[in-house]
Amino acid sequence: MNLVLLGPPGAGKGTQAERISKEFQIPHISTGDMFREAIKNRTALGAQAEKYMAAGELVPDEIVIGIVAERLTQPDTAGGFLLDGFPRTVPQAQALDKFLEENGRSLTAVVNIEVDPEILVARLSGRRVCATCGAVYHVATKPSKEPGICDLCRGELIHRTDDQEATIKNRLAVYHAQTAPLVQYYRESGLLLPVNGERAIDEVYQEIVRELRNRDR
Ligand code: AP5
Ligand code: MG
Ligand code: ZN
Repeated sequence: MNLVLLGPPGAGKGTQAERISKEFQIPHISTGDMFREAIKNRTALGAQAEKYMAAGELVPDEIVIGIVAERLTQPDTAGGFLLDGFPRTVPQAQALDKFLEENGRSLTAVVNIEVDPEILVARLSGRRVCATCGAVYHVATKPSKEPGICDLCRGELIHRTDDQEATIKNRLAVYHAQTAPLVQYYRESGLLLPVNGERAIDEVYQEIVRELRNRDR
């Protein structure tokens, strides 16, 4: 299964991706996580991406397209993949289509997680992520068993630097201007699978799996 997870910041892409990738045994490819890893390791890519991410702006298309194309040539993606946070602009979507076509592959579905903007701010300001394994928590709706410590690997839970109110607002504005047009793009190609993301994490997950199984039959 070759999947894309679409949705505004805080919709639950990362949360659902952790589970979907286990369910279908496909690698979870998050461009945001790749950039955060690069920043942590002080690579040249990290240095390029950092200023855009800190401001809540998108990293330029040519950089992102390059790293995703590179990632999708790795053998673990041959049996399927789950893209989280890519594509995020129409040129990125077109580049992905072209790349897949050239490699005799195509997308199975684009899951669009829909959530009202007011809910998104609350989700992002209360989010905590594991600095070691990337697992996602929320202080109110999904707390870890021990405060500040990851349930899965006992890593430290941190507050993402772009999860401050002013940056969140800009990320939402950038989403509406640059990423929302992809909803229509994928609707037209018949790949869009809209999901109501305002319900409990488990309910959202059950619906996604049910819909994907229907589509895969
Ligand atoms: P990225 O890391 O992709 O961030 P994002 O799109 O802003 O999305 P988030 O990770 O913030 O939200 P999410 O949907 O994953 O929600 P989560 O599951 O964590 O990108 C960061 C930056 O990198 C960008 O701003 C850009 O600069 C750059 N970048 C990345 N990709 C790029 C690209 N393709 N092109 C250009 N630049 C790129 O959930 C959020 C919170 O809500 C959590 O606390 C969670 O516990 C909680 N929650 C989740 N689901 C529910 C639910 N159903 N009910 C209650 N709470 C819930
Ligand atoms: Mg995420
Ligand atoms: Zn962890």
